[in-house]
Amino acid sequence: MSEIKRTWWKEMAVYQVWPRSFCDGNGDGIGDLKGVLSKLDYIKSLGVDAIWFSPLYKSPQADYGYDIADYRDIQPEYGTLEEFKTVLDEAHKRGLKVIMDLVVNHTSNQHEWFLESKKGKDNPYYDYYFWRKGKGNRRPNNWMSTFAGPAWEYDKEAGEYYLHLFAVEQPDLNMDNPKVREEVKDIMRYWLDMGVDGFREDVITFISKTEGLPSSPYWFPVATGMEHYMGGPHLDEYLQEFKDDVLSKYDCMTVGEAPMMTIKKALHHITEGPKQQLNMMFHFEHMAADCLFYSWFKAPFSLKKLKKVYTRWQKGLYGRAWNANYIENHDQPRIVNRYGSLKYREASAKMLATMYICQSGTPFIYQGQEIGMTNIRLNSIDDYVDVSTINNYGVAKAIMGKKKALELANYASRDNARTPVQWDDSKNAGFTTAEKPWFFINENYKEINVAAQENDENSILNYYRKLLKFRKENDIVIYGDYDEHFAESDKLFCYSRSLDGKRMLVACSFSETPFLFEAPKGFDLTKGTLAMSNYDIDALYGNGFCLQPYECRVYMFD
Ligand code: NOJ
Repeated sequence: MSEIKRTWWKEMAVYQVWPRSFCDGNGDGIGDLKGVLSKLDYIKSLGVDAIWFSPLYKSPQADYGYDIADYRDIQPEYGTLEEFKTVLDEAHKRGLKVIMDLVVNHTSNQHEWFLESKKGKDNPYYDYYFWRKGKGNRRPNNWMSTFAGPAWEYDKEAGEYYLHLFAVEQPDLNMDNPKVREEVKDIMRYWLDMGVDGFREDVITFISKTEGLPSSPYWFPVATGMEHYMGGPHLDEYLQEFKDDVLSKYDCMTVGEAPMMTIKKALHHITEGPKQQLNMMFHFEHMAADCLFYSWFKAPFSLKKLKKVYTRWQKGLYGRAWNANYIENHDQPRIVNRYGSLKYREASAKMLATMYICQSGTPFIYQGQEIGMTNIRLNSIDDYVDVSTINNYGVAKAIMGKKKALELANYASRDNARTPVQWDDSKNAGFTTAEKPWFFINENYKEINVAAQENDENSILNYYRKLLKFRKENDIVIYGDYDEHFAESDKLFCYSRSLDGKRMLVACSFSETPFLFEAPKGFDLTKGTLAMSNYDIDALYGNGFCLQPYECRVYMFD
């Protein structure tokens, strides 16, 4: 037996639903809860154990739900609170947990707290946000929004500037105000008492800002000033308070979103024990193998960079804390376009799934990832709807001109992940019966869709099912220790896991050309069992084999 503490949230796999594009149940062109209800059996059939819903709350949708106007109600386009309770109930009946998105770094500028707060200093909500006079005509400091542009907006009614680290419509909450923290705890209790099983906490590591909000000596085109709010001075204290006062009273899980997070800092929050504040963290380091920090600073894909990050997190957390593993979500372009190959779409989608799901940690799978959906090509910036894409394009255009900036948007935009799920090859990919869906459907839906893959035993979809079943049935995949082999290779990712005398070897090709693989020392492939692979070949040559383009194999050793 390993010493790792076993719990349900380590063993589960999570499916992420971005509701607007998942499934439209009422024929208005927008995904909704009725659509989710109709697909619960499908979600269950994948072999996952939980659903994480991107925000379903009432919101003007300036950032598609991450701008919340009412934390206790459902966006009318998505349905009603009653419908949500039905989804919750039906999910639970199927053994699926439900995780809500908790967005409390900021609200919508239409939230009643904000509308009240702008009435001035005497209003009880004034201190819920960061209002500042500015210096003459100048903004209060030089911080830039993470969505590009200044992080301060002047409000005529208030006669002051307010801070927004994201879109203008997303004013930052002042978490230093104890009343705001009480509100957050009440929101948590509201949903936990209703029966939800946990939270994915949006940019939770940004909630504490340096006192006095000082300007930064550094300048970046986006997020200038980040050193003053990433892992800010009171973050520990506030997370501990949320845990002690609320989370510890429920059998729930939390995963905090943490841009720019390092292992050292993460361990501070997620090391197991009485001081643990969050169960897991979504760091971003492995999403920067083809860019600098984030996809708008594009760079050539580097497998070595990717492997280094993975190995660091796998070794760094093992036995002390727990990884949250993902390769896609609503903020990231599709993974096949980034780390895989469009030429070998099926093989590379399966290999990438194997590469991250066989590592130690809780796997998260984003809608459409399980069928290998790809980026969409849009021909004009006017076709994009995501606020960060439009802002980033503005910056890129000033630097590199219109044509290149559009190419970059094609690659880097979050809208790539937000096209409707391709359910079948009928009109609008079976996503909606409306004449027009709310957003473009990828033209490749006739070839890439769920229905076609249901009928194909070798599809990406069925591969995901087999892989998740394999993980569930083998403790070693969940709890095993991790070791990397051939770290110097720029086309092979090879690692092994071990638990209670058993071992598992994973070999993944990131190459479009075949190459020879020789098992690492101490592994005799003739004595192993081939447990997972994405090609129909099991031939060995000596103690190795010829890895086909984007092939992966998983061998088990008793
Ligand atoms: C992270 C979310 O995942 C993203 O979609 C959102 O735009 C920002 N946080 C702001 O809430």
